[in-house]
Amino acid sequence: MVRLEELPTLDSVDVSNKKVLLRVDFNSPVRDEELLDDSRIRAHIPTIKELLERGASVVVISHQGRPGEDDFITLEPHARKLSELLGQTVNFVDDVMGPEARRRIKELKPGEVLLLDNVRFLAEENINAPPEVQARTYLVRRLSKLFDLYVNDAFATAHRSQPSVVGFPLALPSVMGRVMEKEVKALSKVFNPKDSPKIFVLGGGKVPDTISIIENLVKNKVADRILTTGLVAEVFLVAKGIDLGEKNMAVLEKKGLLGLIPKARRLLLSGAPIETPIDFRVLDEDGSVKVEPAFSVTGLIRDVGPATVKSYGELMKEAKVIVMRGPAGVMEDPRFREGTRELVKTALESGAFTIFGGGHLTAVIKELGMEDKVGHISTGGGALLSFLAGKDLPALVALEKSKEKFGI
Ligand code: 3PG
Repeated sequence: MVRLEELPTLDSVDVSNKKVLLRVDFNSPVRDEELLDDSRIRAHIPTIKELLERGASVVVISHQGRPGEDDFITLEPHARKLSELLGQTVNFVDDVMGPEARRRIKELKPGEVLLLDNVRFLAEENINAPPEVQARTYLVRRLSKLFDLYVNDAFATAHRSQPSVVGFPLALPSVMGRVMEKEVKALSKVFNPKDSPKIFVLGGGKVPDTISIIENLVKNKVADRILTTGLVAEVFLVAKGIDLGEKNMAVLEKKGLLGLIPKARRLLLSGAPIETPIDFRVLDEDGSVKVEPAFSVTGLIRDVGPATVKSYGELMKEAKVIVMRGPAGVMEDPRFREGTRELVKTALESGAFTIFGGGHLTAVIKELGMEDKVGHISTGGGALLSFLAGKDLPALVALEKSKEKFGI
């Protein structure tokens, strides 16, 4: 296991007049190439400001979306938002490691910031491999020569073993940024594996990732109960043999989720404590919204129903720790926001220590005006759950290797 308390931070280095490569996670919800939420960008402002005030020149690198998805876009809108939040011009280059990017990096002066374009535009970044392999990628070999220090502030990407996360630490002295440091410290402190019962409420879009994480939570006996919502719940219901009707099966097929059913079935058969909704709020053919029992759904599932919220609420009352990630339905549509809102509210009123991951839930907490009741809001989704499942995060493993190599 990584010795977290021994990992170097910004306090371990002098950054004055140093050229710093800062890995952040600016991956944000997007519609029509515009950012719908800026909380991930805001989160990194203290780290960037501190580096600039301490006399570094800062080159920021991030991903946005995944190839083939609608949110796989340039970081130009992120540069505009970052300029606004920092109160200073952020230079942007629509390139990651080509001649123009390298020229702009070389010319950067202390106190200046440059944002490179979406690092996943490079094929290499989309492959997961061990740090030693990623250190040999062109990205790392080309860019590392131009820097004195690598700072990893991207807690939300810490579960990915990609070159910009795990390759640079083997090529450059490396430390954690303030977001990474704060998340790791807070989570190690607040999440005592011995506190129980621990209830995980899991929904959201990244269904294959969530089901893999559920496997880990079950294998390591971290969760006493897992309350599923959204598409994750639909996969488990089908695995239980429940007919969700043509429309919902077509959605699962279109999203490529039917292949997860055998894995979900194996988890259920192993006796994993996985709960599924008993009713849903659905959209009918005539455009009306109805509540239907899970075992006889005909409309298009858009949210969990009131009976599910009530029964999940009863279970949450028993909890000592509640971890919640991902919305329970299509909450961008106000008609289907209720389930997520009510589950968040119930968790916050339960008296349990609460940990939330992901921008959707943060928006709901703000809307409810219940920020003071929250235990911890994490910038991470998958990274948060992997960390809580007891997995060593590749980003932290790489920072530990960097410490051994460079002695920082
Ligand atoms: C996230 O939103 O969980 C991180 O930005 C990682 O994104 P990914 O799941 O596409 O690797």
